[in-house]
Amino acid sequence: MPVIAVYSVKGGVGKTTLAVDLAWRCAQIGSFPTLLWDLDQQGGAGFLLGAPPRKTARAMSLFHRDSRPRDLIEQTRFGKLHLLQADESLRAMPVQLARIGAKSRLSQLLAFLRADYRRIVLDCPPMLNEVSDQIIAAADIILLPLPPSPLASRALEQVRTELVRHRRSHPPILPVLSMYDQRRKLHREVHDGAAKGWPVIPQSSHVEQMASRREPLPAYANWSDASRAMGRLWSAVEMKLLEQGRT
Ligand SMILES: Nc1ncnc2c1ncn2[C@@H]1O[C@H](COP(=O)(O)OP(=O)(O)OP(=O)(O)O)[C@@H](O)[C@H]1O
Ligand SMILES: [Mg+2]
Repeated sequence: MPVIAVYSVKGGVGKTTLAVDLAWRCAQIGSFPTLLWDLDQQGGAGFLLGAPPRKTARAMSLFHRDSRPRDLIEQTRFGKLHLLQADESLRAMPVQLARIGAKSRLSQLLAFLRADYRRIVLDCPPMLNEVSDQIIAAADIILLPLPPSPLASRALEQVRTELVRHRRSHPPILPVLSMYDQRRKLHREVHDGAAKGWPVIPQSSHVEQMASRREPLPAYANWSDASRAMGRLWSAVEMKLLEQGRT
């Protein structure tokens, strides 16, 4: 079943926020058994879902040859949403995955997990390395959050070029204009110009509160503009998967 990667080379652009929200919507609104897999050692996805951190750093053990992924998956407070938490052991991932014999480990693990889930959402670290290469090879769609800047479309082209350079083909990319503030002229220009037609997520204090409340936005501010925008983004992702015949 489809794998949705929320990816960008840049840090702090809203990847984890979107990944958590999207996974929540797949599970709670779509009623799909959904796995949110946090591949970033910072462990932001588990934090935002209010998951208690693991006592031992075991996330990297998943990539060992005899691992049993199901043993590490946790139930969340949110129905059909399951979580694979990150921890600092993932720091070793680029080196370990680059080893001969581990070239398609992420794809292998995902092939195994696809049988259990209707949707798998990957929260990716902001890197371009062996890890991102494997993520791109395994994903069915890439969600790319880009903050409003005259450089947004250039950034999208750079990512495309980089992806093509690394691999001859890559999954479809859905660019998302993140942290949009319509009071700012520059943001409006990007919105109506280079980013025309992209899904838009407004800058919102409700979104920021996810980190203090440690629950997804719809759980406390479903009525907000930001939550509605994220709902539209989820629909756009589902539409894209449908077009690809990947539902
Ligand atoms: N739409 C938004 N409105 C306001 N704040 C936002 C919005 N989206 C994200 N943020 C805030 O921006 C910060 C970075 O967001 P987030 O952690 O999702 O980015 P990231 O791309 O995953 O970062 P990293 O690359 O470090 O993993 C967080 O404090 C988050 O609350
Ligand atoms: Mg993140």
